[in-house]
Amino acid sequence: MTNRRRECDAYYTPEWCVHRLMDAMHLCSGVWYEPCAGHGAIVKAVSSWHKKRRFQEANIRWVTNDIDPSGIDERMEANPLGRNIVSDYLIQEPGDPVFGSVNSVITNPPYILAFEVIKKTFDCFHDANIVMLLRICFLASIKRQSFLCRHVPDIYVLPNRPSFTYDGQGQYDYAWFVWKKDQKNKRSGRISILDTTPIQDRKNNK
Ligand SMILES: C[S@@+](CC[C@H](N)C(=O)[O-])C[C@H]1O[C@@H](n2cnc3c(N)ncnc32)[C@H](O)[C@@H]1O
Repeated sequence: MTNRRRECDAYYTPEWCVHRLMDAMHLCSGVWYEPCAGHGAIVKAVSSWHKKRRFQEANIRWVTNDIDPSGIDERMEANPLGRNIVSDYLIQEPGDPVFGSVNSVITNPPYILAFEVIKKTFDCFHDANIVMLLRICFLASIKRQSFLCRHVPDIYVLPNRPSFTYDGQGQYDYAWFVWKKDQKNKRSGRISILDTTPIQDRKNNK
């Protein structure tokens, strides 16, 4: 494996990571926005979680965006009734009426832009839940200290390391960082440990 990161940080979220979060946390339905959606892995995983549990598909309407156009066909297939955009999230105008109705923003942001993506989301979506898949070490940082100590997230730890090459061998510890819409300015947060996922499921990206 090479150490060079893929262009645009194109490391897509394994389905099981989303399923473990959904097992543990409820976000109300409505409009959900995936601002760095790649080929729509999170959108597809939210849908398959509902199907797998034979839950009626929640009334979630998606808006997806990515700077890289290569995933647009797959996103349109995963989200045929919603809106699918190709643009740089960091310069997107929040004045667009479509964003006014967003009640949850969820993504696995590009690693090198993760902090920018989080700050942009805080600036643009005051009334939305914010959910980000990040390395756990994101918490410990001099650069981010001032922001994080004023906006401490709830942390949902994935006990298995995700592999973004789907071989089951992850290199880093990850967690979902969650800022609920009415609890964004907290000085402390809650830590939950998510369920484990069998290796077969992780290898199959199931
Ligand atoms: C780590 S991948 C994750 C993709 C997707 N969120 C998922 O969970 O599978 C990060 C994605 O961010 C996109 N990206 C990078 N810079 C971006 C920007 N400025 N605006 C929007 N998307 C961006 C990349 O093209 C890539 O698809």
